[in-house]
Amino acid sequence: MVILWCFNNRPDQYLARVPCHSGQPDSNHKTIESIQETAVSEKKRVVVLLSGNGSNLQALLDQEHHYSYQIVGVVSNVPEAYGLERARQHKVAALGLDYKIFSSRGAFDQRLVEEVNRFEPDLVVLAGYMKILSPEFVEKFAGRLINVHPSLLPEYKGLGTYRRVLADKKTRHGCTVHFVTPELDSGAHIIQASMSVGPGDNEEGLKQRVQAMEHQIYPLAVHLITSGRLQLKGDNVLLDDHPIDPLGYQLLENALELA
Ligand code: GRF
Repeated sequence: MVILWCFNNRPDQYLARVPCHSGQPDSNHKTIESIQETAVSEKKRVVVLLSGNGSNLQALLDQEHHYSYQIVGVVSNVPEAYGLERARQHKVAALGLDYKIFSSRGAFDQRLVEEVNRFEPDLVVLAGYMKILSPEFVEKFAGRLINVHPSLLPEYKGLGTYRRVLADKKTRHGCTVHFVTPELDSGAHIIQASMSVGPGDNEEGLKQRVQAMEHQIYPLAVHLITSGRLQLKGDNVLLDDHPIDPLGYQLLENALELA
């Protein structure tokens, strides 16, 4: 079921609001005040892995002041990635690890584990990290490793999602935040945001709209995990101890505050 939340200008309040359609308070959700209390208590340590532009990193950095996490380090497999520059500008430790100088994927990922662990992260966040992680890496951070993917998973795993959605004349597209497992784009869903696609849409336009949604739901997802409200138990994702929709907590484009 998709719930359209009343519009408000604080993304951390999405899940604390009364659904527009019923007019009745939802007893499964905490109050706005209790969410804000969680947000200002102890900040959890987050490490971001990326390979390129880093617009999702920027969104995470811009919103961390009112959420329960702090970005303590950014690591890239591409030393010239612009995301590393964004981290430096924000006075966050930034490390470029050139995968080309390592003898194998295993050797690279072993070093990556060491470097990530130096930051003592509570959560590791993939934000446009374009290298497939080894099962060993995923195993090391199981349950505290998440990704954002530009499609309504389980549809359109892998690359080229905008092109494929348009080619298939789909009427809906979106993005999914999910836990990472060794199988590509297949872990348990956390939040999914969707929007309509029309005949006038093109790849660049779709990308901009999807990324605008990512920039809202990714910080929100990181907050929900680091504040302890959202947990992975076995294959199920629990929000405030209640199982969520297996497709992820559903949000609609017109309910998000988009830049
Ligand atoms: C995002 O759109 C995300 O869906 C995908 O990679 C892209 C990275 O963009 N995993 P940016 O580097 O955060 O701008």
